Amino acid sequence: MRSPCRFIIPRSRGTVTLPGPPTRGPRLDVRRHGGVSGHPSGGGEERLSSSSTIITTPIFYVNAAPHLGHLHSAVTADCLHRYKVLQGFRTRFSTGTDEHGLKVQQAAEAAGQDPLSFCTDVSERFRHLFVTCNISYTDYVRTTDPVHRRAVQTFWTALRSKGLIYKGTYEGWYSTQDESFLTPSQVVDALDPSGKDIKVSLESGHKVEWMKEDNYMFRLSALRGQLLGWLRGNPGAVQPDRFYQDVLQWLQEELPDLSVSRQRSRLQWGIPVPGDPEQTIYVWLDALVNYLTVAGYPHAHQQWWHSTNHVIGKDILKFHAIYWPAFLLGAGLPLPQTIHVHSHWTVGGKKMSKSVGNVVDPVEKSRRFTPDGLRYFLLRQGVPESDCDYNDGKVVKVLNADLADSLGGLLNRCTAPALNPAQRYPPFCSALFPSDHPAGGRATPEDHRLLGTVRDLPAVVERHYESLHVYKALEAISGCVRLTNGFVQRHTPWKLDRGDEGDRRWLDTLLHVALECLRMYGTLLQPVVPEISDKLLCRLGVGPDERSWAALRFLPRSRGMACPFEGRALGSDSGVLFCRLEPVNTDNRKPKKTLKHA
Ligand code: MSP
Repeated sequence: MRSPCRFIIPRSRGTVTLPGPPTRGPRLDVRRHGGVSGHPSGGGEERLSSSSTIITTPIFYVNAAPHLGHLHSAVTADCLHRYKVLQGFRTRFSTGTDEHGLKVQQAAEAAGQDPLSFCTDVSERFRHLFVTCNISYTDYVRTTDPVHRRAVQTFWTALRSKGLIYKGTYEGWYSTQDESFLTPSQVVDALDPSGKDIKVSLESGHKVEWMKEDNYMFRLSALRGQLLGWLRGNPGAVQPDRFYQDVLQWLQEELPDLSVSRQRSRLQWGIPVPGDPEQTIYVWLDALVNYLTVAGYPHAHQQWWHSTNHVIGKDILKFHAIYWPAFLLGAGLPLPQTIHVHSHWTVGGKKMSKSVGNVVDPVEKSRRFTPDGLRYFLLRQGVPESDCDYNDGKVVKVLNADLADSLGGLLNRCTAPALNPAQRYPPFCSALFPSDHPAGGRATPEDHRLLGTVRDLPAVVERHYESLHVYKALEAISGCVRLTNGFVQRHTPWKLDRGDEGDRRWLDTLLHVALECLRMYGTLLQPVVPEISDKLLCRLGVGPDERSWAALRFLPRSRGMACPFEGRALGSDSGVLFCRLEPVNTDNRKPKKTLKHA
């Protein structure tokens, strides 16, 4: 028997609960697992269901500490995951760390640690960041997990048995930093910091080296036609379209076969090739299989491996949109449903890098701006198609305007005891706000337009969440919050006379409409700011089972239907929704005094 979906995320500060899916698909208890071995639904009796889906982040290299860009990939995927749960999907959401390869081996050496304890330390830092920022993962994969190692070796054996892996020689350029092979046209001349001539990758700027090695090759060249067929038949497979076009473009040229192993003498820190301990499996093949490990490959993946949504940054598009589908085609497994690509955060117009000294620490920023504040900023400002520049001043402006003043102000006004002494969801009077003849009652044409806009909002937000243009969803929501503030301002409810029957009913109606608007915003914002939404919905008295997409149904009273909230006691006041932040002092003068939002 399944219990209603309660999606529990253990965190440093308590427990976050997401409402269960009310409509689509079976209900499921989705809990975070200590590893990838425990699967929510266990057993093989599950039928393949179109309402179940896997969402993934890339797995993160452990050669350096987490930075803001990493958090961006995780928050974007988390938003998609939470949205799918609200929509009623049965989900797996995986993240984790990519721990093998030369650069990790070298980083461990430099730190004077054995590779596994080095990886464990950094992996824990990523996990801590994700718990702090409410990343609702159900599975955390480490490529050093034995269960993953078995999946990779089985996958390798499957490709080999189909004749897709052969022994050969690779001669060409290799970037250890990117763990990537490059053709001569992808390499340019450059100078290293000491003025020495070097070659670097045109795309990443990382140093490349010439290598010649006997190793195993994958017949990528043979799969170009099938890859093109898949992409042409699935124009939504890579989103946004800009990146889809890039992949199509890459596939116009010949694809060389891909080296999928390194000599053990050069790379010890990795998974050995089955049957040939002198060779180590290429880190990208190893890493990409993490998605299958999560699905239960090789024995229990059928029930999950049919609808996978990957979220990745643009720098790893080739690996996900060419190599990965080619490996899956080779192994006879379904291809990803969607690869969602995002662009990068720069700082001062430059790529974040330790040597430039512009790396943004997400743990420090989440402490300063709160986890929800940081999540909101990343998703409100991050545009998938183009890079975005980070600075603290922008964060403060956006959060103060949208969360503290606009949304927080609206909630505060509409729930304040001065306007709402009964602390209840007040009744709606359809005679004063008649939907059938807008000229009657006390509502203005502008008020009716507000209702229409808010009624359409879920469909607008849904479209943008689906395509992970979250900034557009947030733009639409914050536009509606502004309109609702305008609605309250226009009618000055604080000037109405509670002692007059007509005024009192109109005041109640105004508040009912405003609270219904707030209930919509709180529900729709859950994927982005889960803590703020929870606080808002608790204040409105909206229960955990009333927060799904299907429960949205805006202002039913205006259409002659019952409203389950009408007359219900509001939840207790747990304080300011989002505290105003001090403006950033960019000119070294004393910070300006700001009023605390009451
Ligand atoms: N380990 C590989 C992924 C293997 S997945 C099978 C990897 N790791 S990474 O740690 O370098 O990057 C992880 C994610 O962080 C990628 O999606 C990458 O695009 C993202 N970001 C890294 N720097 C970034 C920014 N400056 N801005 C936004 N995202 C960036 O690649």
